[in-house]
Amino acid sequence: MQASKPSAIVKAVLGWYDRHRRALPWRAPQGARPDPYHVWLSEIMLQQTTVPTVGRRFGRFLERWPALGDLAAAGLDDVLHEWQGLGYYARARNLHACARQIMRDHGGRFPEDAVELRALPGIGDYTAAAIAAIAFGRKATVVDGNVERVVARLYAIEQPLPGAKTAIRARAALLTPQDRPGDFAQGMMDLGAAICVPGRPRCDLCPISRRCAAYAKGIAETLPARAAKKPKPTRTGVAFWIERPDGAVLLRRRPENGLLGGMMELPSTEWREKPAGAKRATRATPVAARFRPVDGTVRHEFTHFKLELSVLLGRASSGAQAPKGALWCPVDRLGEYALPTVMKKLVRHALSARGAPLDRPVRSQYQYGRTSSM
Ligand code: ADE
Repeated sequence: MQASKPSAIVKAVLGWYDRHRRALPWRAPQGARPDPYHVWLSEIMLQQTTVPTVGRRFGRFLERWPALGDLAAAGLDDVLHEWQGLGYYARARNLHACARQIMRDHGGRFPEDAVELRALPGIGDYTAAAIAAIAFGRKATVVDGNVERVVARLYAIEQPLPGAKTAIRARAALLTPQDRPGDFAQGMMDLGAAICVPGRPRCDLCPISRRCAAYAKGIAETLPARAAKKPKPTRTGVAFWIERPDGAVLLRRRPENGLLGGMMELPSTEWREKPAGAKRATRATPVAARFRPVDGTVRHEFTHFKLELSVLLGRASSGAQAPKGALWCPVDRLGEYALPTVMKKLVRHALSARGAPLDRPVRSQYQYGRTSSM
């Protein structure tokens, strides 16, 4: 097969995009420039979760904070609360910090250039390129997982990921057009989402299959190849549900830096690869209490490790003081805190053992905002 000119591929992708583009809430009507605030917000949300989920959550975010200035003026806790179920809270913190920085240092307008965008909190190479191209029509190469797959197939790049990233990026950069780079990027993304899907691509419907080297070789299904992943390690720990007689539970704020930074948690032992014995665990309690174990384990998977937590139910005295960084929270007000998903799992597990009345489902008793991701 003769290699196609980049311009022929671009033309075919843009033509397909014009006919088949998905109507997504952050996209402007055809031919119009979208609002940079919408593009930025959607791209940050999309780093963590799927297009349908972002579709729902994006509108709610905008209802609450219609413009960048509204978000910058919001309290961080409100933003974290609204972020529930959208993945890593560091993203929400950066989102808020970024809004404030643009208001303070850029007169409330997003910089148009990818290099300047890259300097803002939470904006990495991908997001900077996406905003520059989609919101401002700047020539920038946007490579997400979908684009990676399309390009790996188009040029039959057989080297496995992640090693192939450099070659894929170089090919994508050569394709990026001066004209309509944002539509081209989104065309490639939509193509990856709808046609050039993982597993069995729909080559019969693909506008560039006749220019696709993997299609010609009959290896599209096998690409992109991936290096075997190292299995994730498992860490374990013991979490404490410590309750006073008045029904208040001890919550603690996690350190600002690190995993789930600044989020509220049920206190626990350190999460280690070696399990802590029962004795060592109870010695780690932040407040003296009488403990009994709860059957079962709460499991959660983070990017780099799996976590298994057992739970101890503890009864503290009525005068027990919360240590620094911790507080007593009435059980029916737990929903006022943006608890990370792993903590919500722990709460549900503890409540089921503590004897939450069965005729009142835990979720309605403890409304965590309006999230659906428990
Ligand atoms: N995934 C990330 N950004 C996207 C966009 N702008 N359109 C479609 N899918 C995306």
